[in-house]
Amino acid sequence: MAHPLEQLRDDALREIESARDEQALETARVKYLGRSGTVSAWGEQMKTLAKEKKPVVGKLLNEVRNAVTAAIDIRAQQFRSQKETGALDKIDISLPGTPHELGALHPLTQMLERSIEIFRRMGFALADGPDVEDEWHCFDALNTPPEHPARNEQDTFYLPDGRLLRTHTSTVQIRTMQSAPPPIRVIAPGAAYRRDEVDATHSAQFHQIEGLYVDENVSVADLKGSLEFFMRELFGADTAVQFRPHYFPFTEPSLEVYVKSKALKKGEQWIEVAGSGIVHPAVFEAVNKARGDKAYDPEKWTGFAFGLGMDRLAMILFDIPDIRFFAQNDLRFLRQFA
Ligand code: PHE
Repeated sequence: MAHPLEQLRDDALREIESARDEQALETARVKYLGRSGTVSAWGEQMKTLAKEKKPVVGKLLNEVRNAVTAAIDIRAQQFRSQKETGALDKIDISLPGTPHELGALHPLTQMLERSIEIFRRMGFALADGPDVEDEWHCFDALNTPPEHPARNEQDTFYLPDGRLLRTHTSTVQIRTMQSAPPPIRVIAPGAAYRRDEVDATHSAQFHQIEGLYVDENVSVADLKGSLEFFMRELFGADTAVQFRPHYFPFTEPSLEVYVKSKALKKGEQWIEVAGSGIVHPAVFEAVNKARGDKAYDPEKWTGFAFGLGMDRLAMILFDIPDIRFFAQNDLRFLRQFA
């Protein structure tokens, strides 16, 4: 004859199997496995059993408890998946989906990536420096004396602690030379800030790519060759590049760079795109002093540097009439470069 526990198990399994919903299943669970349920009651009874019967009944009780627990789990799982299928049934899969618009790179970022790629091919590595700078990196080390107009409070954003927003990326020339001896061949793209009157061609924040090349016997010919190559890669082979004498405290000689290209909308006009020159010996000396060595001996090393106006380049390349468009986040503008 079947043990009453086996009878109990069969009853329980049948009830679980036929439970119509989660509520009914829960009722069955309480009835059999609950604290005062029948299976639990058997556990209590075990204590009163004769010693020799305990192992047999104990084993059986365990099996029954496991079987009932497993059956409840399976039934509960069935209810859960039924619910999910039910939910999916309510979705009309013939409806059109919700379109997700793909973003695109900002025109300045596109410009930057193109430029970096060209300089990479010429062997320039990337360098970086902070936007918030000290006066020394922005001016003193770059041979720019305290009375120089660029340092004026009307032209520069000073922080209360005396630091400032860098007015050009030339700060990274200094930082790079402080951290490594020559030869150096780096570009440093980044933002620069000036207290300019904002108009179609001036913005309080703009972007530059700084370049620095220090080696033995670097000459103006190297500077011209490198920038000409860059401009022709960027604007096309028939781009004309012109170098006009200029003045920067940190280069001597200093040259402004102009381009003209039929491929560009403003093709027939010379457009200023960069400042450049041969690194001033005073800059090397300032770096040496900060380094505490003679790594940048001006008798041994020469270099060229340049600062390209990224916003200007992008405006020419993409025929953008107003620098303020870059920062206005107007989708009608941005979509044109997607
Ligand atoms: N820092 C200069 C500017 O912002 C550009 C420049 C860079 C000139 C490097 C010479 C050498 O106007």
